[in-house]
Amino acid sequence: MRSTTPVTHWVTLALAGLGLHPLLATAVTIAEINGNKFLSSYAGKSVTGVTGLVTAKGPNGIWIRSTTPDDDPATSESIYVFSNTVGSNLTVGDIIFLNGKVTEYRSTATYIYLTEITSPSSVKVISSGNTVTPLVIGKDTLPPPTDDFSSLDGGDIYALPNGAANISTVNPVLDPTKYGLDFWESLCGELVTVTNPTVVVRANSYRDTWVVGNWAATGRNDNNGITMSDKDSNPEAIIIGTPLDGTKNPTSSKMGDQAETITGIVTYTFGFYYILPLTALKITSPSAAKSTPSTLQSSSNCKALTVGDYNVENLAPNSSHLPKIASHIVNYLSSPDLVLLQEVQDNSGATDDGTVDANITLSTLTASILSISGGKTNYSYVEVVASSGNLDGGAPGGNIRQAYLYKPDVLSLWKPNQGSASDNTSVVLGQDGKVELTFNPGRIDPGNEAWAASRKPLVAAWRAKGGKKPFFTVNVHFSSKGGGTSLQGDVRPPVNGAVGKRELQAEVTGKFIAEILKLDPSAAVVAAGDFNEFAFVQPMKTFANVSGMKDLDEVAGIPPAERYTYTYDMNAQELDHMYVSPSLASSRKTKYEHLHINSWANSADMVSDHDPSVALVNVCGCA
Ligand SMILES: *[C@@H]1O[C@H](CO)[C@@H](O)[C@H](O)[C@H]1NC(C)=O
Ligand SMILES: *[C@@H]1O[C@H](CO)[C@@H](O)[C@H](O)[C@H]1NC(C)=O
Ligand SMILES: *[C@@H]1O[C@H](CO)[C@@H](O)[C@H](O)[C@H]1NC(C)=O
Ligand SMILES: *[C@@H]1O[C@H](CO)[C@@H](O)[C@H](O)[C@H]1NC(C)=O
Ligand SMILES: *[C@@H]1O[C@H](CO)[C@@H](O)[C@H](O)[C@H]1NC(C)=O
Ligand SMILES: *[C@@H]1O[C@H](CO)[C@@H](O)[C@H](O)[C@H]1NC(C)=O
Ligand SMILES: *[C@@H]1O[C@H](CO)[C@@H](O)[C@H](O)[C@H]1NC(C)=O
Repeated sequence: MRSTTPVTHWVTLALAGLGLHPLLATAVTIAEINGNKFLSSYAGKSVTGVTGLVTAKGPNGIWIRSTTPDDDPATSESIYVFSNTVGSNLTVGDIIFLNGKVTEYRSTATYIYLTEITSPSSVKVISSGNTVTPLVIGKDTLPPPTDDFSSLDGGDIYALPNGAANISTVNPVLDPTKYGLDFWESLCGELVTVTNPTVVVRANSYRDTWVVGNWAATGRNDNNGITMSDKDSNPEAIIIGTPLDGTKNPTSSKMGDQAETITGIVTYTFGFYYILPLTALKITSPSAAKSTPSTLQSSSNCKALTVGDYNVENLAPNSSHLPKIASHIVNYLSSPDLVLLQEVQDNSGATDDGTVDANITLSTLTASILSISGGKTNYSYVEVVASSGNLDGGAPGGNIRQAYLYKPDVLSLWKPNQGSASDNTSVVLGQDGKVELTFNPGRIDPGNEAWAASRKPLVAAWRAKGGKKPFFTVNVHFSSKGGGTSLQGDVRPPVNGAVGKRELQAEVTGKFIAEILKLDPSAAVVAAGDFNEFAFVQPMKTFANVSGMKDLDEVAGIPPAERYTYTYDMNAQELDHMYVSPSLASSRKTKYEHLHINSWANSADMVSDHDPSVALVNVCGCA
């Protein structure tokens, strides 16, 4: 980028004054070192006569900006000089001259390299007290691209296969007008200002905080976070890292908070482009929490049944968040008739002592709900007890599983026949001509390879008060994205961890539901839970395709920006979904709400890492 410091002529004179010929054949500009690609063509080479203005100092080096900028927006005019000692005699505002070696550095094989100068020598101060003016992003620079991260993603960051190419091997020419990674790379080392930043996700445990400035951002939701959508995972956001002056960013920032305009250095570290601010981020106007309870009204019978879904994050009997989960279920989900839970741990929590039953965890939760509801809501629960040997993944010894809470005066199991961990429930036509399950509740094909070290779906058939035939629920918790690579990493498209596993799980679950719908095309079926995947990515397309189920977000017309239940990196995103069978999809009674009570909370107030959702369905089976 063009520097705003017009000192070229002056430096030429100064260099001449030092007895150095300004047109030395070996002198190289910072733009030439950075080049218009990710990796420098000077990597591994010694350079001499590099001239720059010191724009900032860090504990292990300094950043310098070219005094002879070019006109190419793809070439950064600034660079990091890595050295513990180089900064000791230098002051921001010095124009210096140095020799050194161009190095491409990364700490981890899947990260993008940072171009830097190492082993600086012959450092000479040419002048001091020069003005240092940051580049205002979007004003002195291009605006950040809003959709695509890299030309190597082929327009879809979740396209399969993952990991088809690496930036470090292809080393594409930067196009900062189109691609987010190219944009931030073209500013690497630069001192920049983000005007009026909005926090888009709560600070992480290192107090690093994702923001967007006063530039165009796509996917803005009601709380000023940014929600990802098909082919748009929001490259316009930037993470504010550890301040250079030793101060600390706030821990309590959250989605939608307004912060003071901030200035810092663009760099790449920990797998992301960062701005290292000169001083800590300051929140000027915290967002008011917009948490409102569900508006869906149950009729306490089959005509308008409320169904909640909540990943309760490793819930154990003694979890400090158990009463808060109970309070959420009563006060925000409005005590749905049926609640699909994920991540219920066994009675000994994460202690690996052979305990597999979760009845104490569940009865502690229902007792807490009973108490918080003032004796009004007395849930019953069902689960399938896990087998011993930690076969379902998650924290070893926790044996997380799905479970149901239900109101016994509204719902009961249809021809109950408790399944065990290894029982393979199947869909059959009963003697009454109605579809039923051989094990109810039961698990779907628990021996299938698809579920190795993962949670098997918990399926149940219900008799709803007034209903003429069973209503089916499939409660899932697919494999997590663990093992994936950074959205801003070297590997393109990034590795979507365990996507192949989820694809198999989607097929097995989808096939099971298809059997219900083959025997009864008008059956009421709700499949919900933590699918650990986005609706627009292949496993979920497969699930919809194979099962014949409809995405309830689409059915209920939830605005795309409000389709989120989780936050990760810069994005509000949707890992949890409800899908409904065609008869429910075509009913005007069907409704759906996401309650963003955790996504919008700061770290201290967050109860689970997922948001719950509630649906309203007519399951009378009159069709
Ligand atoms: C800093 O200046 C002092 C005094 O002139 C000198 O002894 C020292 O070597 C300099 N340090 C560096 C890193 O140049
Ligand atoms: C990309 O880099 C990773 C990590 O170094 C490596 O495992 C992988 O094989 C590379 N992929 C390609 C397509 O070169
Ligand atoms: C719950 O009990 C386990 C041991 O069974 C213990 O490790 C854990 O710290 C306890 N958690 C709380 C919140 O008391
Ligand atoms: C839990 O189940 C076991 C049998 O598996 C039973 O002995 C115990 O009483 C149950 N506890 C509760 C709280 O329901
Ligand atoms: C709640 O339901 C259980 C049966 O599941 C019953 O034993 C208990 O008395 C009920 N409690 C209240 C307060 O209604
Ligand atoms: C479990 O049942 C399904 C049908 O629901 C069947 O396709 C599968 O082969 C069965 N698995 C085993 C191990 O019997
Ligand atoms: C859906 O299934 C049909 C065949 O039933 C197939 O042609 C199509 O490719 C599938 N689509 C997806 C997204 O899996």
